Amino acid sequence: MKFKKKILGIGAGYVGAPSMVMIASKCPDYKVTVVDINPERIAAWNSDRLPVYEPGLDAIVRKTRGRNLFFSTDVEAQIQENDIIFVCVNTPTKTFGAGAGMAADLQYWEKTARQILENSKTSKIVIEKSTLPIKTAQAMERILSSGKKNVTFDVLSNPEFMAEGTAVNDLENPDRVLIGSRETKSGLAARAALVEIYTRWLPREKIITSNIWSAELSKLVANAFLAQRVSSINSISALCEKADADISEVAHAVGTDSRIGAKFLKAGIGFGGSCFKKDILNLVYLCRFYGLPEVAAYWESVVRINEYQQDRFIANILRSMFNTLAGKKICVLGFAFKADTGDTRESPAIHITRKLLAEHAEVVISDPQALANAAADLAHEKGKISYVEDPYRAAAGCHALAVMTDWEAYRKLDYRKIYKSMVKPAFLFDGRNIVDHRKCFEIGFNVFPIGKPALTRF
Ligand code: UDX
Repeated sequence: MKFKKKILGIGAGYVGAPSMVMIASKCPDYKVTVVDINPERIAAWNSDRLPVYEPGLDAIVRKTRGRNLFFSTDVEAQIQENDIIFVCVNTPTKTFGAGAGMAADLQYWEKTARQILENSKTSKIVIEKSTLPIKTAQAMERILSSGKKNVTFDVLSNPEFMAEGTAVNDLENPDRVLIGSRETKSGLAARAALVEIYTRWLPREKIITSNIWSAELSKLVANAFLAQRVSSINSISALCEKADADISEVAHAVGTDSRIGAKFLKAGIGFGGSCFKKDILNLVYLCRFYGLPEVAAYWESVVRINEYQQDRFIANILRSMFNTLAGKKICVLGFAFKADTGDTRESPAIHITRKLLAEHAEVVISDPQALANAAADLAHEKGKISYVEDPYRAAAGCHALAVMTDWEAYRKLDYRKIYKSMVKPAFLFDGRNIVDHRKCFEIGFNVFPIGKPALTRF
């Protein structure tokens, strides 16, 4: 079959693969290929068990794979073959050298840029989809323009705003799509080519176009604002616990102001995920780099409050359980950084579990999707850890439950049955405020929500 356009996605991770899957689904006359250097990951995308858990994604992959969607490890051949290339490689926080712990590690990204240059025989549109520090497009352009003069590259920034767990809906029906380009003739033509892809399923008004630096910065700022809301509400949850106020009531009262809005005001044990912390630290690094220490300190405090919230949760467990956890069994309900994903990157559960182990508690971890990742995260920890998918079996014989992930299933558990199987006095620390606290208290638990008065018998 002759395809109208050929599109390549480099990097088959949480962002790249679902984005490309959606393009393949909405544009059956385009050939979409996803490449990755990791053969296991590609094999998984070609199998019945996809490497990421994302509700609704399997069905779309089944419909499109082999028709106009292909997964391959042959990065170089595919670069030659395609004219539109989305770069979706990971850009973790640097762990070494200048900017370690803050700046983005661009080695995979630069390697990809060089690979594109080496393997391109025709001109191409190269689209940054990974979240990157601003001015990365400029570096990309510099690398790409260091080659043969008859092959040209237009670099666009098209950051992805989808969230995990809701990727399919977010990709199908996003609030907006952002496309940044150079405002030159060829930059604008490349921009138009990308707009054309998205208008296959989205109204033109949803597509925002801007200059390339604004697009790059907007992605960092959007994540920083979202994370800031979580830290804002979490900081107030600490005050609620002291002042006998209820964080859910405060969030509701505040969020009904249409200027503030109700979303992203759920107090909990803090934000996790691969983006928020990384992007804020990136923003902080940029501010310092450009000589704006006050702005850097402002955004850094969002991360500090997130750490504070996790430490507060642990301190509360320790204090409530008579200042010793040694030899006590704690059931960690949920390890994913949020519901509907198996992803545990930067999950508050990692830090909290480490602290529990440091207190010599025995930890039983339960999660419907994230146990394999949890085991990998904790592989080097000393202490007693077990992994039990069934929450009833996990909780049996424990002294406390600590809810870490807002899985819907945890709202509906039979807490009476769980209570009966636990050591008394039984404790329930609800790090996500999803359990019926009053009911659990009546069953017999000592209940410690976030940002609300504790319900205890002591
Ligand atoms: C985020 C952005 O939402 C998305 O636009 C961007 O593309 C990638 O980063 P994601 O990391 O998948 O997406 O998760 P998100 O739903 O934003 O949640 C992030 C964290 O904040 C989770 O740990 C979540 O539990 C926490 N959170 C969110 C709260 O604690 N309270 C809230 O009210 C909302």
